Amino acid sequence: MGSRRIRLPPKALRLCGPMFSDDAYFLASACREADRLVHSFGLRASSRLLDVGCGVGRLAIGIIDRLGPIQAYRGTDVDPRYVRWCQKHIQHAHPTFQFVTIDVGNPRYNPGGPAVAGDFRHPFDDGSFEIVYLYSVFSHMETEQVRIYLRDFRRLLASNGRLFFTSFAEEGVPDLSINPKGYRREWSGPLHCVRYRRGFLESLLESSGFKVDRFDYETETDGQSAFACSLKDLPADQ
Ligand SMILES: C[S@@+](CC[C@H](N)C(=O)[O-])C[C@H]1O[C@@H](n2cnc3c(N)ncnc32)[C@H](O)[C@@H]1O
Repeated sequence: MGSRRIRLPPKALRLCGPMFSDDAYFLASACREADRLVHSFGLRASSRLLDVGCGVGRLAIGIIDRLGPIQAYRGTDVDPRYVRWCQKHIQHAHPTFQFVTIDVGNPRYNPGGPAVAGDFRHPFDDGSFEIVYLYSVFSHMETEQVRIYLRDFRRLLASNGRLFFTSFAEEGVPDLSINPKGYRREWSGPLHCVRYRRGFLESLLESSGFKVDRFDYETETDGQSAFACSLKDLPADQ
């Protein structure tokens, strides 16, 4: 690990399953995510990155360990407790890392929040990021919200921008299934597991202006798959 270690979040706030309550596991997973972005997405000190559904800053902690400050890291989440922890313990010491609460309803993580509007925009300018990243976030979101987010990511990405996300994605299943019985493990509570048919998800990406460059099946937490995407139909002057 690098020498720029920062405080890890309290175990009670950690996400993604019980194994993440182990400090070594949490930090190794954080660094692995940063390494993936360095090696496969060109993340470097001059990069601008948006981490949607950042939780308690796992990716940010990995990036700080591996690279130190980058030009701009922005983390968003619908749960203000996570954002407050990240602001106090990460943003305060590393001011190019900034965290924002987004008040978008999610039956699991922000049950009282408003339904996302069709014209929803994240609070960032057009073309602000080279990388948009979501780990285990679409796995808790239904179709309309995914569609609205993807459309906005198209706006937020620079012309050479890339999108990375994880999702439950399978062949030969309904377009969308919520907490499917007998699938991988027991699911409980609202939107614990939102599973998509892979082709359906790819059609959402396609209609939002993305193409899938790489698909890695069940390589991620709980058997989620990883999608690496770039923009299609670049403007003529690119
Ligand atoms: C399983 S956790 C993953 C956290 C983090 N990405 C990680 O890998 O450690 C899912 C996160 O997505 C957030 N989330 C859920 N719906 C969201 C939405 N519509 N917009 C932004 N964040 C959302 C949750 O509050 C939660 O922090």
